[in-house]
Amino acid sequence: MILGIESTAHTFGIGVVNNGKVLSNVRNMYTTEKGGIIPIESAKHHDECAAGVFEKALADAKVSQEQICAIAISQAPGLAPCLLEGMRFAKKKAKELNVPIIPVNHCVSHLEIGKLTGAIDPVLLYASGANTQIIAYAAGKYRVFGETLDIGIGNFIDTFARYIGIGFPGGPKIMELAKTGKYIEIPYSIKGMDVAFSGLLTNLKQKFDKGEKIEDLSYSLQETAFAMLVEASERALAHTGKKELLLGGGVACNTRLQEMCRIMCEERGCKFFVPENSLLVDNGAMIAFLGEIEFNSGIKVDVKDFDKLDINPRERTDMVDVKWRS
Ligand code: ATP
Ligand code: FE2
Repeated sequence: MILGIESTAHTFGIGVVNNGKVLSNVRNMYTTEKGGIIPIESAKHHDECAAGVFEKALADAKVSQEQICAIAISQAPGLAPCLLEGMRFAKKKAKELNVPIIPVNHCVSHLEIGKLTGAIDPVLLYASGANTQIIAYAAGKYRVFGETLDIGIGNFIDTFARYIGIGFPGGPKIMELAKTGKYIEIPYSIKGMDVAFSGLLTNLKQKFDKGEKIEDLSYSLQETAFAMLVEASERALAHTGKKELLLGGGVACNTRLQEMCRIMCEERGCKFFVPENSLLVDNGAMIAFLGEIEFNSGIKVDVKDFDKLDINPRERTDMVDVKWRS
C-alpha cells in the first residue's frame, strides 16, 4: 500500500495505490474568483485541508494508516511554498508511521500514470499549467523532443481567462465559451517541435480590447494553440518512429484537444490514449502510482535520513534517472 501526496501548485491531493491499482484519489484545489495563484496562499490552503484529505483518502481506499508501507511525495518541480508544505506534511506522517518517503518528479508521474490506459512506449503530449512538452523515452531518460519556448499552455489559457475576468482555472471556462464561437485569425507559432504562446496571448488581449466576442476569441485560441500542439506531436511521432500518443496534464481534459489528437492518430495509423480527467489534473494517485514503481526498484529515503531530504523546485523531466525502466 503506497500513499501519494501531491502539492506542487494549486492542488493538494492524496491517493492510495496497491499493485498498480488506484484505490483512492482525493483532491482539494485552491481556486480564485478573479486573480491567479498566490503561492503563499495556496500553501496555506494545503496546510488547512491536509488532515481532512488524508483521512478521506484512507477511508475511500478502505485501508487503515498502519497498512501504508511508504509515502510518495511530489518533490519537484513546482512552487516552493507549496512543495515545502507537502514535504512537511509527508515527513510528519512518515515519522508517525515509521515508513520511508519516496521522492517523485511530478512531471514524470503525469507520464507514468498513462500506463494505466495501456500505452506501452508512447510519445507523451504533456499539456498542463506550467508545462508544455513533447516527451518520449530513450536510453534511460524521458527526453524532451519539443516544448514551449515561453509559457505553458495552461498558464497561457489561464492568463487570458484572467484578463477577460473569468477567474482561475480558466481552461474549463474557455472550453465552454469556445463551443459557440467562430474563427478569427490569430498567429500560429511553431518552430520544429517547439511552440510559443506569448505572441498569441498579446494578440488575443489586443483583440479583446477592441471588443471582439469572448466566444470567438476562446474558439480561435483553442483551434490555433491546439493545432500547434498536434503538429509538434505528429512530428515527434514521425521522428521517433513510435506508434502511440498519450495525453497528460490538466489541459488534456479539453475534449477539443482530445478530438484533434485522435483524428491525427487515426490518420497516421497510431494508437491514441488519454487517462480519465481525475488522473490528468494534478492528483495524489499519480504520485502514489509512480511512487510504487520507484519503491519496487529500491528508491526510498528512510526516516533517519529525512534531514537530507529536500524539495527540488526546478528539476526538469529529462534530469530524472529512470532507473525503473530498461
Ligand atoms: P504542472 O503539471 O505543469 O505543474 P499544473 O500543476 O498547474 O501544471 P495541471 O493540474 O496538470 O497543471 O493542470 C492545470 C491546468 O489545466 C490549468 O491551466 C487549467 O486551466 C487547465 N485545464 C483544466 N481543465 C481544462 C480544460 N477542460 N481545457 C483546457 N484546460 C484545462
Ligand atoms: Fe501537474
